[in-house]
Amino acid sequence: LGSLKEADLKGKRVFVRVDLNVPLDDNCNITDDTRIRAAVPTFKYLMGCGAKVILASHMGRPKGVTQKYSLKPLVLRLSELLGVKVKMANDCIGEEVEEMVAELPEGGVLLLENLRFYEEEGKNDPEFAKNLAALADLYVNDAFGTAHRAHASIEGVAKYLKPAVAGFVMLKELDYLVGAMKNPKRPFTAIVGGWKVSSKIGVIESLLEKVDILLLGGGMTYTFLKAQGCSVGSSYVAEDKLDLATSLLEKAKSKGVALLLPSDVVVADKSASDADSKVVPASAIPDGWMGLDIGPDSIKLFCETLDTTKTVFWNGPMGVFVFEKFAAGTEAIAKKLAELSGKGVTTIIGGGNSVAAVEKVGLADKMSHISTGGGASLELLEGKQLPGVLALDDA
Ligand code: 3PG
Repeated sequence: LGSLKEADLKGKRVFVRVDLNVPLDDNCNITDDTRIRAAVPTFKYLMGCGAKVILASHMGRPKGVTQKYSLKPLVLRLSELLGVKVKMANDCIGEEVEEMVAELPEGGVLLLENLRFYEEEGKNDPEFAKNLAALADLYVNDAFGTAHRAHASIEGVAKYLKPAVAGFVMLKELDYLVGAMKNPKRPFTAIVGGWKVSSKIGVIESLLEKVDILLLGGGMTYTFLKAQGCSVGSSYVAEDKLDLATSLLEKAKSKGVALLLPSDVVVADKSASDADSKVVPASAIPDGWMGLDIGPDSIKLFCETLDTTKTVFWNGPMGVFVFEKFAAGTEAIAKKLAELSGKGVTTIIGGGNSVAAVEKVGLADKMSHISTGGGASLELLEGKQLPGVLALDDA
């Protein structure tokens, strides 16, 4: 890939696509700044070379312009980390933004407003991409976490703004993940949880070609349980994926992959910190109750299974860990992986919520690799090529 280190940067306007899609609480406080901190070396390098740094990112999946998805809450943290007063634009294209860019001093930093406030971003609209390109003299993509999206700021812009090179986060992630996935030490285990069931269930099909063991937990669980004819109460189920779940269970069997589901779960009457909760067998969730974490037997089963493994990739929490009541499963897995890392097992944590969970228990520095990409790292693991990487010079 084209490298930042070869580029002539002094006095140049640099458009940096970065993934600043960090979790915010209801008061717009950043609850996990891993992605911001990860990109700081790229920003500082550009600043140190006298570039005029334009930062562009998406936040969430907004429909139109909504305050909830503004990038403004990030300005303070960015300024603290970079040691300069980061300027904030009210838009990501247009005359006003162009004027702000023109006023940037060498080493100055401007943060653009959420790219996804324009639906043209997701549609990879060429005019929108050209408008973004018009802001700068060169393009740096450091948004590994979004490299699996063929969006205007990721793919389109690289056609119009040259050179188009990778930032340090992008290079580090590709280096580590491609290497680790090519020839993993076996047995190789993937743990998949979280609540993006519809978008992740397809990934499981490809994972069955790569892994020896697959542990399914979190929001993934109940679609698979229901597909096996178990009662799941009011647990979250992707109804349109039941047939797929059945065929995946069969495929795992025919491939000789050990696919494990929780044996017991923590159920609750609602998803809230003051919910009533109890542990029940995973195969018999009573009516009116929803599964929100894996239970103690499942924790034991998963941890014993992990003890036999040499490489672990984890994406997606085991339960609704933001509530203490439903955090035990996720925390137990985080602790187990930290312990295994110490014994030479390769442990890779992919993606927003699993990384936040590992940060929450203070174990991030114990893992072999903490990836800033969830979906992106899963797609790499599947063996897919990422559009954001292919768009760069010398890809
Ligand atoms: C992520 O959080 O995985 C990335 O920021 C991409 O977000 P998206 O799934 O909304 O495209």
